[in-house]
Amino acid sequence: MQIGNVDINTPIFLAPMAGVTDYSFRILCKEMGAGVVYSEFVSSHGIIRENEKTLDMIRFTEEERPIGIQIFGDSPDVMAKAARIVVDQFQPDIIDINYGCPVPKVTKKGAGSAALKDLCLMDDITTAVVESVPEIPVTVKMRAGWDSSNIVAIEAGPRLEKIGVKAIALHPRTAKQNYKGNANWALIKELKQSVSIPVIGNGDIKKPEDVLRMFEETRCDAVMIGRGALGNPWFFKQANALLNGSPLSQEPDLHDRLAMCKRHLELLIESRGEKIGSNIMRKHFGWYIKGFPGAAVLRQSLVTAKDKDEMRKFLDTDRNDCPPWRE
Ligand SMILES: Cc1cc2nc3c(=O)[nH]c(=O)nc-3n(C[C@H](O)[C@H](O)[C@H](O)COP(=O)(O)O)c2cc1C
Repeated sequence: MQIGNVDINTPIFLAPMAGVTDYSFRILCKEMGAGVVYSEFVSSHGIIRENEKTLDMIRFTEEERPIGIQIFGDSPDVMAKAARIVVDQFQPDIIDINYGCPVPKVTKKGAGSAALKDLCLMDDITTAVVESVPEIPVTVKMRAGWDSSNIVAIEAGPRLEKIGVKAIALHPRTAKQNYKGNANWALIKELKQSVSIPVIGNGDIKKPEDVLRMFEETRCDAVMIGRGALGNPWFFKQANALLNGSPLSQEPDLHDRLAMCKRHLELLIESRGEKIGSNIMRKHFGWYIKGFPGAAVLRQSLVTAKDKDEMRKFLDTDRNDCPPWRE
């Protein structure tokens, strides 16, 4: 498939996730076959101030392409300037606008899903960004609407297409819903029928089989995986195999999971330094080993390890000889 002029070899994307989809996790998902990866959402105000920490969130490597950098903000002018800076300094493949974040800290300033309450503001922000970076595709990721009485995604779709947006990702919950209830996939189907640009379906794809179900039920052009990929970069390999009619590879066992943890930790340390990298890794340990039979003690040891050396020690220990995690 294509988004604007960007060729994409598989329609299974990694969703943007703040605090998760940094370089280390994107690389692992890419290696497992993610078709497009996205940065965490990045503040347009931080970008125009050229705040070092903000710019660090945007840096990526060539192996991650095609990559989308997602930006959020409330002001058309600031969003346009931020998009320009991102393209000039980093040359990503896609600029994605966040109209989905339901977190009050973001929405009370009019950014993220707050734009769903004011489609004219959404038009203005989108137009400003599209005009500011004409050489690369601008995409949008949105929720269904602000609340259940104001479902606007189907009205917004054709407006965004007319402005020049090259694809829309829809997480069909309202902002008010946060993560409660189910994603309403019928809205993805309806959006797909109302625009001719690619529609990327998102929400509640929990297992690889759900990918096929979403394609069938909604006729969307690509799917985007969020929580299903946490601690589970293998998701992309398995979903691609299903999509291509190939046999499913075996579920990763504890050995595979620990090897992936080790790699993830090294990538985090390489990109974020020892202290921050190992701290970030704690939550990933929880996800990688969540629900894994017989590994609760190991999970606890990793999550509470005092530093990277202790983490490495637990990861390196021969599980058969020294079983601190045997229950
Ligand atoms: C930890 C976390 C962080 C997220 N951060 C972002 C973000 O920065 N930008 C965004 O558009 N969506 C963000 N989301 C929403 C996801 O991209 C996705 O739309 C949502 O989780 C539904 O998909 P899922 O059911 O596959 O998880 C985040 C979700 C999670 C769980």
